[in-house]
Amino acid sequence: MKVLVIGSGGREHALCWAIAKSPLCDRLYCAPGNAGIAALAECIPLSPDRLKEIVDFAISHAVDLVVIGPEAPLVAGLADLCEAAGLAVFGPSAKAAMIEGSKGFMKDLCARYGIPTAAYGRFDEPDAAKEFIHRHGAPIVVKADGLAAGKGVIICHNENEAFAAVDHIMIEAAFGKAGSEVIIEECLQGEEVSFFVLVDGNDIVPLASAQDHKAAYDGDEGPNTGGMGAYSPAPVLDESLTRAVMETIVRPTVDALKAEDRPYKGVLYAGVMVTTDGPKVLEFNARFGDPECQPLLLRLKSDLLAALAACAHGRLRDVSLRWHDDAALVVVLATRGYPGHFAPGSHIRGLTDAAAVGDDVMIFHASTALENGDVIATGGRVLGVTARAPSVKAAQALAYQAVDRIDWPEGFCRRDIGWRAIARS
Ligand code: AMP
Ligand code: GLY
Repeated sequence: MKVLVIGSGGREHALCWAIAKSPLCDRLYCAPGNAGIAALAECIPLSPDRLKEIVDFAISHAVDLVVIGPEAPLVAGLADLCEAAGLAVFGPSAKAAMIEGSKGFMKDLCARYGIPTAAYGRFDEPDAAKEFIHRHGAPIVVKADGLAAGKGVIICHNENEAFAAVDHIMIEAAFGKAGSEVIIEECLQGEEVSFFVLVDGNDIVPLASAQDHKAAYDGDEGPNTGGMGAYSPAPVLDESLTRAVMETIVRPTVDALKAEDRPYKGVLYAGVMVTTDGPKVLEFNARFGDPECQPLLLRLKSDLLAALAACAHGRLRDVSLRWHDDAALVVVLATRGYPGHFAPGSHIRGLTDAAAVGDDVMIFHASTALENGDVIATGGRVLGVTARAPSVKAAQALAYQAVDRIDWPEGFCRRDIGWRAIARS
């Protein structure tokens, strides 16, 4: 098969790594890719928002499967354009990806079908949003409706913070059109977990659970980021809770989307809060998590490409996946200053040495480029050092052993990835 992966992050490096291992893969392209991906795939300098050019490339290169990594091209309709051109595609249509693209749509869907989630209100006018906040009191959560690169959710500890959040989103338009509507939500308490499944419109194959570390610094301090590390599986999701997530959240959502003529195809990511009242869905994403994808795929024994192709062709009922019993953990290395201002262009050394720590260690690139043969950092989150071992604690030790061999003074990472799972063991 000829495969085209869309995206340039650590998630896409992990996808390319798993796809390239498949005996079914004859040729692998990635648009646009990064320095790590370039070792596995032919990188095509096309940004994911150039939808028509991506489709033209896939047609002219007789691509058998397009795998879409990030949410923005999904919400913009890349999967629809591929299908209209007769291309097989892994990723939901724009109508189905609205489950991530509009939080208001997602909440209304949950309400219509009795899917457990936080109580909420939906507003396109700031005064009405504030009146609702005043009526319900703090703590309360204010969210921009549309895509905001993971920054559109503000947890507010008092009423004034919540009023300021409404102004930030609706009046200052911090997230542009994504904030023309806000969702105000009850603040749920509990432990948060991510759960991933493959869906082919109808059938569901569970992948695995993971836990992310969103805060920038140790002890979950500092500003929120796209994710500074993750591990899989998440010990909090035991067998009975996993069943509850499948039966009360995932299955009803897939059925609801089908009933509303938005059949979902691709990976569905449920962000779940395990509350004393049972699991409740915080959000859905229409893609793999980044960095959660990296430990997830390090645990997968089966052929990923075969599974993605089966999903694209509506044949998931023939798929069952095998997993390593081990845990896997990723530590993200970011440029100093991230998620605020940072200077790109610094040199990274020691990567070969770091990868040599073991066969079960992978260094996924999230934002790198090659400059005269040297690897340079080009963004905020730059590397995902990922390790697999019999326990989260052992995987953590292995990952930090590799991290310590990387020579990159301009970078930083958290030193406590996995703490919650280790504290449980
Ligand atoms: P979202 O982008 O909707 O996943 O929200 C980002 C993060 O905000 C989640 O991963 C949670 O940590 C937090 N969050 C979102 N909604 C709520 C809620 N209703 N109660 C508590 N925390 C929330
Ligand atoms: N790591 C969180 C996300 O991918 O949304």
